[in-house]
Amino acid sequence: MAAFNIPFVKSNMKTKVFDAQNSEGIAQCAQILREGGLVAFPTETVYGLGANGFCESAVNNIFAAKGRPNDNPLILHVACTQDAQELYSEIPQSFYKLAEIFWPGPLTLICKKSDKVPAKVCAGLDTVAVRCPANRTALSLIKLANVPVAAPSANISGKPSPTCAKHVFDDMDGKIDAIICGEACKYGIESTVLSLVGEFPVILRPGAVTQKMLQAVLGRVDISKNVCEPLSNGEKALSPGMKYQHYAPDADVFAFSGSTEQIAAKINIAYDAAKGKKIILASSENAALYGEREHYVIGQRAKPESLCASLFAALRCFNDYDIIFCETVAAQDEGLAYMNRLLRACGFKVY
Ligand code: TXA
Ligand code: MG
Repeated sequence: MAAFNIPFVKSNMKTKVFDAQNSEGIAQCAQILREGGLVAFPTETVYGLGANGFCESAVNNIFAAKGRPNDNPLILHVACTQDAQELYSEIPQSFYKLAEIFWPGPLTLICKKSDKVPAKVCAGLDTVAVRCPANRTALSLIKLANVPVAAPSANISGKPSPTCAKHVFDDMDGKIDAIICGEACKYGIESTVLSLVGEFPVILRPGAVTQKMLQAVLGRVDISKNVCEPLSNGEKALSPGMKYQHYAPDADVFAFSGSTEQIAAKINIAYDAAKGKKIILASSENAALYGEREHYVIGQRAKPESLCASLFAALRCFNDYDIIFCETVAAQDEGLAYMNRLLRACGFKVY
């Protein structure tokens, strides 16, 4: 694992809190961004930690506040397709087709970067990731700031991404200038990251926009092998974010595979044998099979997007437990994004 180059020290900065309905507050936040400060804001995926994407020192502060490894590039957020164009140096037709259909929305598009984008944003790569979020507050903040907004998820690096304002407050109070408190995030997992630089488009991180949805527009779309597999020793990640342990609460997370009934049976055996404070993140289909064992229903197996919407919040909620038991689903379609996050939370160990 790479060294965390910027030592993180909690500062005693006073973090201002604004309501998403407060348009004057949003204008103040846009001003803070323009002046090089850090503002957390809601999006439809997860909360983002924003900085002026053209200001290298502001971008540096994102890495410091999160304790983020320096070689993990950021996504630039724009308010419209046109604003993305100056950030790229080469734009394939596929970009326009996808932006037309999926923007604003949970899809991040990677193309060759233009000279306008500071090297720090892209961690030295010659490509840049850009996204237009489908959230009213985010869009008005970006428009008012009038700069591309560099924003990773607003969590401490390695922890589950924040899906409501409280999570951001827990991780970032005292370390950033402002937090805009809006609604809980609709999707609850980060955007699909798609690279458009190779011969065929490649999904580097699965999200709510699935391979099938992209294939319907582009034809062939590949999935990076690292989406559901750990990197082998010395292997270079197409997306640097894929190599770090992610989404991990303090509790040990264990994932179980098999048929629906087999999963419940395996979890029950492991639960009964385990010591300490333990909980099962259950599907509604399996909930009854867990009987009196402590469990919390996060969604439906039949709708993996519902599992995605609650996974991070549940991992945070039960952070202080010793063990969290989880069900796996098939790693395809909407289930792929869920498995991508779950496998990282459990360190790729599936029983
Ligand atoms: O939904 C989202 O995408 C959220 C919200 C806030 O928009 N943002 C987010 O950012 O998840 P972050 O920094 O947590 O994840 C960005 C991912 C990382 O895995 C990073 O390695 C990858 O995108 N990435 C960024 N630029 C890249 C590039 N030029 N080439 C390959 N991967 C890149
Ligand atoms: Mg993140």
